[in-house]
Amino acid sequence: MNERDSEGVAAQLIQEGYALAPHEAAADVILLNTCSVRDTAERKAMNKMQALASEVRRHRPNVVLGFLGCMAQAHGDTLLSELPEINMILGTRKSHRVAEYLGKILADRSIRICDVNEEPQSHTVTKGHLLSRPSGGNKVSAFVNIMEGCNQRCTFCIVPKTRGVEHSRPLNDILDECRELVDKGVREIILLGQVVTSYGKGLIEKTGGVSPFVRLLEAVHSIDGLERIRFTAPHPRGYGDDLISAYANLPKLCESAHIPLQSGSNNILKAMKRGHSMAQYTRLTEKLRGVKPEIGLYTDIIVGFPGETESDFEDTLAAVKDIRFDSAFLFKYSPRTGTPAAAMQNQIPQHVKEERHARLMNAVDQIASEKYKRLTGQTVEVLVEGPSRKNPSRLEGRTRCHKWVVFEGDESMIGSLMYTTVTGIGKYTLYGESPEPCKKAEQTK
Ligand code: 5AD
Repeated sequence: MNERDSEGVAAQLIQEGYALAPHEAAADVILLNTCSVRDTAERKAMNKMQALASEVRRHRPNVVLGFLGCMAQAHGDTLLSELPEINMILGTRKSHRVAEYLGKILADRSIRICDVNEEPQSHTVTKGHLLSRPSGGNKVSAFVNIMEGCNQRCTFCIVPKTRGVEHSRPLNDILDECRELVDKGVREIILLGQVVTSYGKGLIEKTGGVSPFVRLLEAVHSIDGLERIRFTAPHPRGYGDDLISAYANLPKLCESAHIPLQSGSNNILKAMKRGHSMAQYTRLTEKLRGVKPEIGLYTDIIVGFPGETESDFEDTLAAVKDIRFDSAFLFKYSPRTGTPAAAMQNQIPQHVKEERHARLMNAVDQIASEKYKRLTGQTVEVLVEGPSRKNPSRLEGRTRCHKWVVFEGDESMIGSLMYTTVTGIGKYTLYGESPEPCKKAEQTK
């Protein structure tokens, strides 16, 4: 989400005549787009801003410094008073105003701006895109925002506070943006929102058992020239039978799903107010595998939520072993001020969180490694995104199940679907050989 917001700000500034600096030391304006979801993210941003402030004070007094995003939203003008070198604090609904405020500051360097107010229509603003990839070539895969905010009330999460309630963008605006991207060479669209499966609730009617989100998928699917569709992040409860069937009926919808589980213990899921049980989650993965047996399944899990016993944690470990995710993002619970879980009495000591995190990571890595190894010798369909970020003499792309593949090839393959045979396995990377173009009729196989 932040990556997408930063891209939107950069595109907006370029549109206004600014240019991207090649690196921080050459920049006249430095904007940090910040995340509040865990304390480590906030601390990193704060340390970075303090280092920048000290550098600006001592050596580069003309540089403009700004804080954007969730941390700016949550802390507002206390950040201005803590760091006198900061010129601008803009909240999550203000990113489309960066150019306007920056213009004011550049015209009068005595001005300091803090705007974290509500802005009811901010979700309808189309954010611009940068269509070149930093490591070379044009962008093949693009994020498209479909909604902002979140109406869930998970007790650990700061997002409803920093991003506000759900607002869906009008369907036609989303389609126009997707069509324009495809016209410019984008082949894969990743629909983006805090809870994409809630798209359009209260705005578009559910008709014939089909939810607004699935209607949107169908509409995006009909765009000629688009090869692949993905989305992130869904809520497990949002997977009705209409969405399960979409995997069977919409060939461009890739067989991968990133569905946050958060915990494998029903006690903890309840305390988190997640709104689903472990059995419902398992049933969902079974249904998805029922329509797409090879689907790549990914998840987010928090360890050390308040009150998590060893037995709760073992339920999570068992869930991971049972479901066999292709990979998982694992987080140590981080108390966020103002959330219900932060005020719970039974907080878990840090060393216990560390230990559980390490054990879970071992299990996730072990299963992933087995699943990756099974792909050796198989032919996979790769959408070639560009030169590999690690080794630019090779190409990289993702399989339909969302695994990175690195292989030797030439630039003409960028933006195409290629078949390649997996001959090597790295940690969460496949190495391919003998790339062959997919024939049109087979492309959606
Ligand atoms: N502590 C730890 N992890 C968190 N997440 C959200 N809030 C917290 C928190 N307070 C994780 C969840 C979510 C992911 C984006 O971040 O797993 O899905």
